[in-house]
Amino acid sequence: MELPPIGLGTMGIDDPETITRAIDLGYRHLDTAQIYENERVVGEGIARADVDRDELTVATKVWADSLAPEDVRRTTLESLDRLGLDSVELLYVHRPIEAYDPERTLPAFDALREEGLIEEVGVSNFTTEQLEEARTILDSPIVAHQVECHPLYRQRGLREYAREAGHVLVAYSPLAQGAVFDVPELREIAEKHDSTPAAVSLAWLAGLESVVTIPKASDEDHLEANLAARELELDEEDVTRIEKIDREEKLFE
Ligand SMILES: NC(=O)c1ccc[n+]([C@@H]2O[C@H](COP(=O)([O-])OP(=O)(O)OC[C@H]3O[C@@H](n4cnc5c(N)ncnc54)[C@H](OP(=O)(O)O)[C@@H]3O)[C@@H](O)[C@H]2O)c1
Repeated sequence: MELPPIGLGTMGIDDPETITRAIDLGYRHLDTAQIYENERVVGEGIARADVDRDELTVATKVWADSLAPEDVRRTTLESLDRLGLDSVELLYVHRPIEAYDPERTLPAFDALREEGLIEEVGVSNFTTEQLEEARTILDSPIVAHQVECHPLYRQRGLREYAREAGHVLVAYSPLAQGAVFDVPELREIAEKHDSTPAAVSLAWLAGLESVVTIPKASDEDHLEANLAARELELDEEDVTRIEKIDREEKLFE
């Protein structure tokens, strides 16, 4: 699946105008989820935007309590209804917990794909073992694995696995929800390029093989700056410094 290097995370966005503005600025990958309770907001923002539907990649996620097969179908139809769309490009298993039962959950995702309600299947917050297992059960390819990934939690193993398996690693919380601003290495690299730690983090992720990212922003300056981070070119020394930051800080369990 082709995903732009920088998309929009929408967790916490509650104003459709933010979505419309993001699309106007050039965002083409929008990431929502049932649990964010903002699919209606995202759908309204898309409806107001001046963009062809086929230019957008809309992704949503089935929450952990709805992963029994009948609930997968029912809640996906509800998601589509809230989004105001006939189908989404990408549907994720949000977390392999609670009602997740690979032998029952995953065929329900295959069935939605056959029905044309979703284009591709993704998973989120899986271990490599869970990815291996899911790949043997699914008829559909896994096109994307969405996990927490930022300069303070770099996910070397899952990045390597994504390259080998041929799926995209979608890096969530790429700014560590603001913690990147307090990392001396990132501040120094930013200073060198007359940039910011946020842009350095996004440019680092966007430059990695098989990785794309979805920063969340509601502030217009942040929306613009994050998309512009595509243009920031880090050199080898910067990349090595980021890979060597001596901290392991995960936000989500
Ligand atoms: N699959 C999962 O389990 C999972 C879990 C968590 C997140 N996600 C996805 O990943 C997306 C992003 O992660 P996140 O929301 O946790 O955190 P994040 O993107 O790391 O950080 C978002 C925060 O950073 C601020 N910000 C954005 N751009 C900035 C900039 N250029 N300068 C300064 N501050 C900036 C935002 O403020 P403003 O809003 O004020 O602009 C917001 O407070 C989510 O929205 C969601 O779509 C997925």
